[in-house]
Amino acid sequence: MLRTELKFHELDSTSDFLKNRYQDFQHFTFVRTDHQKKGRGQFDRTWQSESGKNLLFSILLKDINIAKMDDLKSIVLNSIMDTLVSFGIHPQFKAPNDLYVSGKKICGILIENLASEHMYLYVVIGIGLNINQTDFKDLNATSMSLEKNQLLDIDMVYQTLLNQFFKRYNL
Ligand code: BTN
Repeated sequence: MLRTELKFHELDSTSDFLKNRYQDFQHFTFVRTDHQKKGRGQFDRTWQSESGKNLLFSILLKDINIAKMDDLKSIVLNSIMDTLVSFGIHPQFKAPNDLYVSGKKICGILIENLASEHMYLYVVIGIGLNINQTDFKDLNATSMSLEKNQLLDIDMVYQTLLNQFFKRYNL
């Protein structure tokens, strides 16, 4: 499937970027950044992430059948879970959309959409995966690096995750 991958040094939020410009981009556009000035989480929370240390990206899907939403969530969750497992980390799913390791959050997922009558005009899936950050102050969070005791290559984690996603999405 044709896809577009964009990378920015800094954005307000990768999800806001795609939501504001969804008409300008094709289905299957991936936007990643090193730093978000206004990263958002579920329930109007902010998503904090040290610059350049974690994976922050969003996926734009267009014209999605409303009945496919649950499948889509499973595809996203399983892609992230299997990516972590391939790096030797075994996460637990916590509803609605979080992944935890040993009781600490390692990944958050924010799924937003714009519905018309029978379909979603867009679905924007925002993913924040903690990779090389080791200090989370008062947050109950962990990272791949803290779990493995080593720094990881963020590009490699990203490519692994995208490959997992494409494999499942094309089924
Ligand atoms: C949560 O656990 O509350 C969901 C967090 C989602 C964070 C990601 S980071 C990339 C994308 N852009 C955002 O502003 N939020 C999501």
